[in-house]
Amino acid sequence: MATKPTVLVTRTLPNAVEDRLAKDYNVRLNPDDTLYSPDELIELAHGADAILPCHTEHFTHDVVQRLPDRLKIVANFSVGVDHCDLEAFRKRGIIVTNTPDVLSDATAEIAILLMLGAARRAGEGEQMMRDGSWCDWSPSFMVGNAITGKRLGIIGMGRVGLVVAKRARGFEMEIHYFNRNRLSETNEQGAIYHDSIEGLLAISDILSLNCPASPETANLLSAERIAQLPDGAIIINTARGALVDESALVDALRSGKIASSGLDVYRTEPGGNREIATLPNTFLLPHIGSANMETRDAMGFRALDNLDAYFSGREPKDRVA
Ligand code: DGY
Repeated sequence: MATKPTVLVTRTLPNAVEDRLAKDYNVRLNPDDTLYSPDELIELAHGADAILPCHTEHFTHDVVQRLPDRLKIVANFSVGVDHCDLEAFRKRGIIVTNTPDVLSDATAEIAILLMLGAARRAGEGEQMMRDGSWCDWSPSFMVGNAITGKRLGIIGMGRVGLVVAKRARGFEMEIHYFNRNRLSETNEQGAIYHDSIEGLLAISDILSLNCPASPETANLLSAERIAQLPDGAIIINTARGALVDESALVDALRSGKIASSGLDVYRTEPGGNREIATLPNTFLLPHIGSANMETRDAMGFRALDNLDAYFSGREPKDRVA
């Protein structure tokens, strides 16, 4: 590269990623890791050839319209791109990339953690140990549900869904799935395909959401669909909060229709859903699906690979717009 392109990096990235960035680019880092407002983001983007953002920056239609003409590529540090109005980017001719593959294992780990935590009431137990309220033991104390041998329904058998299925087989779970397209027999590994979400819901003792958020999947888990799950089912979400009607989930958790739920993602982030947080039959994490050191390095390097490809005249591997 003759003159180094300028890259605006919106959040603090792992050291190894920032070091590699500094070698090849003029970088505008965010050492305080503050969340930029849309106006600040647009202001800081002036003079930049690329932005390396996270899902915390919302590129709405209005924001994309106001981005400077010089900007050529937005290389996301995320697999999800629901924070980006891709159509608006296409119209502006700005390339958008994401970071698939590298976070599938990490996210599947969290899905299994949520499954166990929700089924075995880990949140309630942990709270009790911390506030000193554990004062008895009896055969009826803190009785939860087993996950071993249960039917796991996966909506979205993409990269993450496949790893969730693989890990769940370790618990002898029977794997069922719904996906836009049926997988090959080799990829199915014995998983049972359902050609409708309704068909899958009816047999899911535990339901795991693993599909991306998009206009088509918004509110996918509605009150009507929750009602189709078996009584006492467990709902796990490591994908995006927008997939779930959270008030319907609250009602179902209150009535006992849904035994418990393990959630890493919410409609409102950061913060989550205060009503859900008051329910004891939930096991809740703050959107940490990809939060381990190995994965965060790999996400950064993948975003850099996309930038390097673009600035060397090649097609970025993970182009989504
Ligand atoms: C992703 O990569 O989409 C994760 O949710 C973190 O942003």
